[in-house]
Amino acid sequence: MNHRRHRISLLAVLSVAVLSLTTISYAFVRQQTENPLTGNWAASSPSNDGYVRKTYFNLKQDGAKITGTIRATQFFYTIKESTGGPEGFTLNASMMDGKSERKVTYEGKLVGNEMQVGRRNRPDQPITFQTAVRAPEGEGTLPARVDPPTLHAVKDNGLAKSPPMGWNSWNKFAGRIDDATVRGIADAMASNGMRDAGYIYINIDDTWEGYRDAQGNIMTNKKFPDMKALADYVHSRGLKLGIYSSPGPNTCAGYEGTYGHEEQDARTYAAWGIDYLKYDWCGARTLYTDEEMPAIYQKMGDALLKTGRPIVYSLCQYGRLDVWKWGADVGGNLWRTTGDIRDTWDSMTGIGFRQNDLAPFAKPGHWNDPDMLEIGNGGMTDVEYRTHMSLWAMLAAPLLAGNDLRTMSPATLEILTNKEVIGIDQDKLGRQAKQVWKSGDQEIWTRPLSGGATAVAVFNRGKDEAKVGVKWADLQLDKRKVVRDLWLHQDITTVGPEYSVSVPSHGVVLLRVKS
Ligand code: GLA
Repeated sequence: MNHRRHRISLLAVLSVAVLSLTTISYAFVRQQTENPLTGNWAASSPSNDGYVRKTYFNLKQDGAKITGTIRATQFFYTIKESTGGPEGFTLNASMMDGKSERKVTYEGKLVGNEMQVGRRNRPDQPITFQTAVRAPEGEGTLPARVDPPTLHAVKDNGLAKSPPMGWNSWNKFAGRIDDATVRGIADAMASNGMRDAGYIYINIDDTWEGYRDAQGNIMTNKKFPDMKALADYVHSRGLKLGIYSSPGPNTCAGYEGTYGHEEQDARTYAAWGIDYLKYDWCGARTLYTDEEMPAIYQKMGDALLKTGRPIVYSLCQYGRLDVWKWGADVGGNLWRTTGDIRDTWDSMTGIGFRQNDLAPFAKPGHWNDPDMLEIGNGGMTDVEYRTHMSLWAMLAAPLLAGNDLRTMSPATLEILTNKEVIGIDQDKLGRQAKQVWKSGDQEIWTRPLSGGATAVAVFNRGKDEAKVGVKWADLQLDKRKVVRDLWLHQDITTVGPEYSVSVPSHGVVLLRVKS
């Protein structure tokens, strides 16, 4: 009797289970046939470094409406609006990036079991379509958010008493940087006079990263077979090695960030022999607000200190949240004050001449960073590159060359290694220049130097050559009599109360004045 009852209830349970499974799979099949876009899709971008970057489309189609999320490199968007269906659709998606909304449009269609999908950058530009295939549910999900730590002051690491000098791979090589190129650059820098002029750091920017191993250790990708060996090589040339990462799950180029592995990665960098870290906000924007930046940067500041290895800490978050006010407190030696520089006169001057208000925040150990140098990359004339070098020196900016040091012209090398100009940048007082005079396209900036000297830069941003009368009294420099031109490498002997200089279009006259 009892047995039979058991059997009956077992049968009942089984039939319910079978029935619900059938209902679920029926619903699934129906969903797939009626709403075939529903599901998790991945489009892979192949690259020759072994790291596959994927864009995930987690879609739910309900007839003519498509909702869901799109995760691409450092971004995570929510679909806000859709039109069309499997035969051709448009997805308008957006995400909050700090206080601003970042919008994207993707277009695509279903072709058999695959989705052809691409991002529309501009209405008048063609789309590059990629193939997306179905991916397991859950793959590509954004990791859970870890709350930021509470704030405390991070101990000063005592590094970068003068603005860091060296080289960075991004401006010239972007994703094409590899071990052999870094070695070649190190050889060049050690032998062409740059090292002796003060250039010490060789900084590898984004795209060195591989996957994590089973223990969560970050690995390099195929382009960097052995980071420790590379560091040893760079050190053997009397130079130091820098690396790059992001506090987010992904870097700007979509590679692995340090998220959830901050201390572990800092230990790995130290074990490799890394001397400098550029830490780029990038993918952190998917999980944190701008107001949380200090705490997130503090986490890595603490982690670097804990390794016991001297590692210069460079903050890269494009100057948001007035980073100059808190960068030093979270352990930063320098912080980017702007978006990315480009190799054009407008980009370089648009950044450089906008730094005036930040002068009070620069001091030994802690510098404003208006981004890396473009000198020698070909988008400006040598006159303009001299202005770039002079302006950066006046601003006490880090001097990180961004060109191919193996093949540069003698003129480029001469600009980068002008020791008198470098002397201004590296002056131990560490004071950043301010604009003291302006008339039309001409500007004079001055910078106090150690030993009572002053650097005076006369800029001509105009299209024609200009004559500028430098009136020493106006600059409170009338008691100083020794004037030296740092590009002509000449003392000026005929200095009255007014010094009249002729400045070429887009050029500069850079002077050192003392009593
Ligand atoms: C950001 C930074 C750049 C560079 C790239 C790398 O755009 O501002 O300097 O590091 O990321 O992806």
